Amino acid sequence: MPKQLFKMDLIHRPRRLRRTEAVRSLVRETVLDAGSLIYPMFVMEGDGVREPIDTMPGQFRVSVDELIKEGRELLDLGIPAVNLFGYCEKKDDLATEAYNPKGLIPRAVSALKLACPELCVQTDIALDPYTNHGHDGLVLNCEIINDETVEVLCKMALSHAEAGADWVAPSDMMDGRVGAIRETLDANGFEHVAILAYTAKYASAFYGPFRGALKSAPKKGDKKTYQMDPANIREAMKEIQIDIEEGADVVMIKPALPYLDVIALAKQEFDVPIAAYNVSGEYAMIKAAAEKGWIDGDKAMMESLLSIRRAGADMILTYFAKDAAALLRG
Ligand code: PBG
Repeated sequence: MPKQLFKMDLIHRPRRLRRTEAVRSLVRETVLDAGSLIYPMFVMEGDGVREPIDTMPGQFRVSVDELIKEGRELLDLGIPAVNLFGYCEKKDDLATEAYNPKGLIPRAVSALKLACPELCVQTDIALDPYTNHGHDGLVLNCEIINDETVEVLCKMALSHAEAGADWVAPSDMMDGRVGAIRETLDANGFEHVAILAYTAKYASAFYGPFRGALKSAPKKGDKKTYQMDPANIREAMKEIQIDIEEGADVVMIKPALPYLDVIALAKQEFDVPIAAYNVSGEYAMIKAAAEKGWIDGDKAMMESLLSIRRAGADMILTYFAKDAAALLRG
């Protein structure tokens, strides 16, 4: 030990509460548990299909029979929910496959609910996997048209509710869709189906790997006329206010890590459950760096998820759900 130059007379020594794991456990302010995770999954046609997604190592497009196996695994891991996206090859201008009651997602939902009734089955509501131009809404004269799109979204939500979906999750960012979907569901006897609204969804570069997974990247233009400008937070609060007024049960902020300030402010301002989407780009970055040996993938995953909870998210949609739940179980 070098000779001490001076004696420190400290009253406050915060390190006392970091000395051992037992002490750290006592003063821990945030916990991460599998019960607040939602696993997003990609469903495709076929039988026994498990197709690896290049842009998202460790994730797969699965057929309905495989989806059921996954559902059981999720419940075993303590994960209460899935959020389903359809991989659709029958794309057209009007997204007709999006609301086909015998389409892929309705079939997936009813099979999954039959096999795993306890699982909260959520479905994505947006047109991009079903349109040949890749936009979330209908396009007329190079514009994404709002009100006509909302009608299609309502039909889509209804077809999922009829199949047994517990929650529908509109991710399209059209104006007025939460209220219209609520009205449609209620008018058809689906008052019990909840709406998880992608409320503050930013026009983000972090969706790239997801668009690779669904071959849903827009052919022309970007999504900036409907998704939010990353520069704005006041506007996010306005979107949340509107969605709550229209009947959203849960509001979502997306992506998560670059927008923790938005999550924190939403938590402070509003009294509703808040979801955050730890999106494909956030997942892919950690996976890629870990593959190169530049980062400890497991630790970076747990730290990211914990931070999203600390910021104020009650629930997290994450491709890490299974890995995180397995680690938490030990
Ligand atoms: C589209 C949708 C997207 C995501 C969820 N729903 C992509 C987009 O808006 O282009 C992204 C999810 C992710 O990146 O993990 N309605």
